[in-house]
Amino acid sequence: MLRGELVAAPAGNTLQYNGTAPGPLVKLREGDRVRLEFRNDLDADSSLHLHGLPLAPAVDAPLTHLAPGTTSTQEFDVPEGVAGTYWYHPHAHGDVERQLLAGLAGPIVVTGATDELLKACDDRLLMFTRAGSEISVNGVVRPVLTPTSGRTRLRLLNATAGDHLLVGVLRDGNRTPLHLVATDGGFVAEPVELTEILLAPGERAEVLVDTTAAGRLELTALSYSVYGNGGETSTGFRLAALDVPQGLAAVALPERLREVEALDEAKAVRRRRIAFGGDGVEHFTLDGKTFDHHRVDLEARLGTLEIWEVVNEHTTDHPFHLHSYSFQVLALDGRPEPLRAWRDTVNVPPGSTVTIAVPFRGEAGRTVYHCHIASHEDLGMMGVLEVSA
Ligand code: C2O
Ligand code: CU
Ligand code: CU
Repeated sequence: MLRGELVAAPAGNTLQYNGTAPGPLVKLREGDRVRLEFRNDLDADSSLHLHGLPLAPAVDAPLTHLAPGTTSTQEFDVPEGVAGTYWYHPHAHGDVERQLLAGLAGPIVVTGATDELLKACDDRLLMFTRAGSEISVNGVVRPVLTPTSGRTRLRLLNATAGDHLLVGVLRDGNRTPLHLVATDGGFVAEPVELTEILLAPGERAEVLVDTTAAGRLELTALSYSVYGNGGETSTGFRLAALDVPQGLAAVALPERLREVEALDEAKAVRRRRIAFGGDGVEHFTLDGKTFDHHRVDLEARLGTLEIWEVVNEHTTDHPFHLHSYSFQVLALDGRPEPLRAWRDTVNVPPGSTVTIAVPFRGEAGRTVYHCHIASHEDLGMMGVLEVSA
């Protein structure tokens, strides 16, 4: 059994896990039995949520708030097939944004057999958080990294409270090709070439970058609009640099990574529509309602597959996040999604519909789904899902 403890406590005007912000890296392996203790030494309610790990609702306990001075214990087996990049953060409804911005977030890396295929790559985790007006990377603003291999694996983790990051890698101002190898729920079937990847708040992606040619690569947040096509865009800025030294030998791309199961839409027992909405700046709803932890909004049965159409009837992007049950994206605005991948968070642009397939596997219980922009979640853009056995 792997044992660990995380303690959330104030430090100056920040909040930290085990005395650091971001919190320490939690390293797990598929199949590990884990016992994780959490102590809340803050002066406010908090909790520890392991974002993206498909844990039983009773272990995740997203509706439980821990009072100052209290502890919780999460004991679980790391499921097979989930090797990838995850993170932990507080889930005390109404106070999530403040606690995240103050420093409470940390990375989780789960390893498994598929990682062997990438063992020649330099493996780097880049966790993005917001520090005032800047985005920091592992707690440092615009760090410079020196790759040690001709191919670098970047584990990109958007742990900001509400920043969409459209990430690209530039050389002399031009985009270089990236190979996507993993999304939120771990590896995809084979590397997919792209030149940019959108990470909504909460999302992760892993990409490989060729680092054989010496020189500087700029990891960049490209200009992006959360208001949809034609809306006001943010200006791009640099996140980090890779200073590639001379003489790194080429590392071949693996052809295949793993099997990603295809979900058969015809077997779905139900189709539902879930709508993000709201009016004005302070009013954010799901299906016209704001969060009430006493109310069950959706009921489903363990062992069934459902198709959810997540519709954005609001004016800005909202990232949809579901706890405990990983899903696959089937379509965006009716256009089939070419990438088959497990995820726990997906961005829904304004006016768009993202169709997802959700197989209810593992354990029954009561959990939540919400927008992963922390201020929206705090203001009630969250619902309760009850999965019965
Ligand atoms: Cu990362 Cu319910 O959240
Ligand atoms: Cu989560
Ligand atoms: Cu939102």
